[in-house]
Amino acid sequence: MSSESPTSSSHRKSVLVTGATGYIGSRLIPRLLPQHDVRCLVRDADRLDPAVRDHVRTVTGDVLHTASLRESLEGIDVAYYLIHGLGQGSDFEKIDRKAAEGFAKVAREANVSRIIYLGGLGDENDPGLSPHLKSRQEVGRIFRESGVPTIELRASIVIGPGSLSYEMIRALTHRLPVMICPSWLATPTQPIATEDALIYLMEALEVESQESDVIEIGSDDVVTYGDLIKMYAREKDLKRVLITVPLLTPYLSSLWLGLVTPNSAEVGRHLIEGLRNPTVVRNGRSRDVFAHRPMSTADAIRQAVEIEP
Ligand SMILES: NC(=O)c1ccc[n+]([C@@H]2O[C@H](COP(=O)([O-])OP(=O)(O)OC[C@H]3O[C@@H](n4cnc5c(N)ncnc54)[C@H](OP(=O)(O)O)[C@@H]3O)[C@@H](O)[C@H]2O)c1
Repeated sequence: MSSESPTSSSHRKSVLVTGATGYIGSRLIPRLLPQHDVRCLVRDADRLDPAVRDHVRTVTGDVLHTASLRESLEGIDVAYYLIHGLGQGSDFEKIDRKAAEGFAKVAREANVSRIIYLGGLGDENDPGLSPHLKSRQEVGRIFRESGVPTIELRASIVIGPGSLSYEMIRALTHRLPVMICPSWLATPTQPIATEDALIYLMEALEVESQESDVIEIGSDDVVTYGDLIKMYAREKDLKRVLITVPLLTPYLSSLWLGLVTPNSAEVGRHLIEGLRNPTVVRNGRSRDVFAHRPMSTADAIRQAVEIEP
């Protein structure tokens, strides 16, 4: 039960959103607000969307600091974990592990009834899984083994303007009429529209089972990264030629990405390392657990292009 609103009903929950200034978190908050009491853990409150700032309780802190975690998790029913440390240099795996361990420990002490975490698709038994995807799955495992019931949603690219991985595809397609691309162009993936990811995140709040679960989410169609570039180009009426060069190493291509995308070469390198790993939906849990059915990748790209700034 919420301690933050006199209008609380039995369905009204106290919900913590971490990553509230990020792409997913900032879009989730307006959906939660009509039904729940929302608290946000942010490093810089000025970065919170002004439209929601007055309607949430803000804890200024850092997920790496125990005191911030205690203050933000106290009295919380459900906690969304929408954080990654990709921009924190080469130590991101260590940082993400430490953050997740601290978060899980304090959530357990605070009797949080559920953690909802959006992580990454990818075969956890694949020895060639990129450090980024491995780390995303390690974070989910830490939560699931913590004793706090956890719903780990796993997604590939979230399609919408502002989403880091989508922006990478967008910037590449715009800036290079002829692309010399590494073999990851043929890697299969199952992206998801932002709208669909947000609906699943909302539905995860209402799941009745108290068991931890891993639920893979994505549109029904499997595409390659090359397909995504072509689909985006088609929507924008751009003519693009893709040439595959198998010898372009992830390191070289990240430097190349650093030149052509607005993202830093560091973040681009971590993301691009993951592009060699298939990120497809292998378990059917989303259909078992959720009522929602996602749109196709083509519709997701069409809608994203329509709302591009
Ligand atoms: N976007 C995608 O395509 C995609 C695809 C699959 C899965 N996901 C998952 O979705 C989740 C959210 O991703 P996103 O795209 O929304 O990322 P994002 O836009 O980069 O946002 C990351 C958020 O994490 C916060 N953060 C980072 N380190 C923190 C710390 N030490 N303490 C407190 N806050 C911290 C950032 O706060 P600041 O504003 O202070 O930096 C920011 O709000 C992640 O788990 C990601 O793996 C995303």
